[in-house]
Amino acid sequence: VAGARSARAVAAAMSVFVTRRIPAEGLRVLSQASGCRVQQWDSEEPVPRAELLAGVAGARGLLCLLSDRIDREVLDAAGPDLKVISTLSVGFDHLALDEIKKRGIRVGYTPDVLTDATAELSVALLLSVCRRLPEAAEQVKSGGWTTWKPLWMCGYGLSDSTVGIIGLGRIGQAVARRLKPFGVRKFLYTGSGPKPEIAAEFGAEFVPLMRLAKESDFVVVTCSLTPATQGMCNKDFFGRMKKTSVFVNTSRGAVVNQEDLYNALAHGQIAAAGLDVTTPEPLPTDHPLLSLKNCVILPHIGSATYATRSTMAVLAANNLLAGLRGEPMPQELKL
Ligand code: NDP
Ligand code: DGY
Repeated sequence: VAGARSARAVAAAMSVFVTRRIPAEGLRVLSQASGCRVQQWDSEEPVPRAELLAGVAGARGLLCLLSDRIDREVLDAAGPDLKVISTLSVGFDHLALDEIKKRGIRVGYTPDVLTDATAELSVALLLSVCRRLPEAAEQVKSGGWTTWKPLWMCGYGLSDSTVGIIGLGRIGQAVARRLKPFGVRKFLYTGSGPKPEIAAEFGAEFVPLMRLAKESDFVVVTCSLTPATQGMCNKDFFGRMKKTSVFVNTSRGAVVNQEDLYNALAHGQIAAAGLDVTTPEPLPTDHPLLSLKNCVILPHIGSATYATRSTMAVLAANNLLAGLRGEPMPQELKL
């Protein structure tokens, strides 16, 4: 009887709710962990709010995605047993951290393992936008390609350019590292303060945001979404940019005021933009930004390589298990 009781206690201690179908490697880590009882919203589509609230009730651990808003309502629905939240993302702006901290819940996330994939996608998007690849490919399909024309489909190159990076963090640095061999003349960056040791690798100069806007031929946004960065790229910002400059955002949609971006693109205030992230996600198919030729929008695929997503899932699962066992997590967010 005592044995059965302790087995039940272990099972309760390790009951987890997973809010989506995730790469099999990650789920396997959880299902093979002794005593771990997994309940999952086993779908490619987001868990409906009511199912999230019901699924999390009584769970000790929650493995969630960036599309799940984990706020006081979810935490209340979970109840006092919830000890660990593990998000399958490096971004954590979807988590109500103050409330989570107040309740003594630990948080795991997935930095580093997605840095290369996201930097690669940022560079791919930048090149697609500045050399007009989607527009040009469309011309081939539609018969718009009639002959080689000296003035047709010209764009902007990286050689001898100035690149401004908003947020020289893990991904920002990986972007700079990849762009440098294209012949970039000067890197500028902005953030909460100068980082001379890191910036030395690129000879990057720390500048105020508006100077970065004014002097950059390419602006790449790779910062985290915080109250300070929300809406930071707005009318004033785009107004300072050059008419020939290209704007790329692979961080979070809410860093950009999209109405201001639309106006800047539509009125030739800036040359072009590439967005991997938008507000909302998905962007409605009739959104004005989608009517512009000089705006390329991707469906938040920064970390979407098979290997990266698999590694993220394994890391998220191991974060969750370590937290449930009271051990150090491979990647714990310090609250
Ligand atoms: P890091 O924490 O390493 O970098 C975040 C950067 O944001 C830091 O360099 C920080 O600068 C900067 N930052 C914070 N506040 C400001 C500010 N007010 N102005 C300018 N910069 C600021 O995170 P990662 O590089 O790993 O990830 C960055 C973000 O990218 C994630 O938070 C996530 O939102 C997004 N992301 C998007 C992906 C996609 O699929 N498109 C994939 C992965 C991540 P400082 O150090 O000076 O404070
Ligand atoms: C993140 O991890 O924050 C990305 O947006 C998705 O990988």
